[in-house]
Amino acid sequence: MYTSFSLYTTKVFASAQSITSLNTILKPVCLSAERIYQLLNMEDENSGKVAELDSRIKTIEFLHVGYRYRTDLPLVFNDLTFSFMRGDKVLLLGDNGTGKTTLIKLLLGLYQPAYGTLSFNGIHASSIQSDSLRQRMGVVSQSTFLFRGTVLDNILYGQNGKSRSAVEDLIDELGLKEYIGRMPKGLDTEINQNTSGVSGGQAQIIAFIRAMLAEKDVLILDEPTANVDEETRRTIIHVLREQRYKGILIVISHQMDGMDFFNKTIHLTKTL
Ligand SMILES: Nc1ncnc2c1ncn2[C@@H]1O[C@H](COP(=O)(O)OP(=O)(O)OP(=O)(O)O)[C@@H](O)[C@H]1O
Ligand SMILES: [Mg+2]
Repeated sequence: MYTSFSLYTTKVFASAQSITSLNTILKPVCLSAERIYQLLNMEDENSGKVAELDSRIKTIEFLHVGYRYRTDLPLVFNDLTFSFMRGDKVLLLGDNGTGKTTLIKLLLGLYQPAYGTLSFNGIHASSIQSDSLRQRMGVVSQSTFLFRGTVLDNILYGQNGKSRSAVEDLIDELGLKEYIGRMPKGLDTEINQNTSGVSGGQAQIIAFIRAMLAEKDVLILDEPTANVDEETRRTIIHVLREQRYKGILIVISHQMDGMDFFNKTIHLTKTL
């Protein structure tokens, strides 16, 4: 048994439907691709990888990709073929265990396909230095890694030379000024190590702002509307709808009725 998929290409930014039918609850967030790398402490992963990805990611192509965690384990999925292009908004849909997270890990260069090829701008992922790949991708995930410091410190983390005013401008542009303003001291709200000081939903928004500020070529949101309150959910959906993001947006979800602004849907399903 493995996961197969269907790809729906829908009209880009079809007319808005009611989002009140959305019944997902939201989970907290945020982990940069670099951080995943540090956490997994993967060494020597660049051996034999000669290419550096030195320009924006414009295309990502999966060609008959299959993956299994170990040779004695069954395939998670097989024969995935699809491509993403700059500007695509992709919904990655599937039940628990169908391989959504695994697919993201392949995208981040954490795993290599067992079969088939995955390429970025026409270059095989297996020959691209993983860090040059990950620098271009942002992940806002279910686990929150905010550090001790202010909300502003957390947003500016890892952003070379960006200033407070750049953050304020972006927050304004995203329509999040009021939302951030409701935190006790706005951008200067202190976050403790265990993220106390902000809620899970607020942490998710902070991670999201950080990813937007970094202008990554690929932005992956893992369950962005799980585990946050109604207002935060509406805020996230509103910002995603606004189309400001110009790169490849990939949103993982079990179910997202009403999220009709995607132009591609990859639906992973278990097949016997
Ligand atoms: N490190 C691992 N080693 C072995 N098998 C794994 C590993 N991680 C995941 N799997 C298996 O791969 C399959 C896909 O898992 P994955 O986490 O990608 O699913 P998912 O679609 O993200 O699920 P969820 O909706 O629960 O997040 C599952 O059968 C899972 O048990
Ligand atoms: Mg998952």
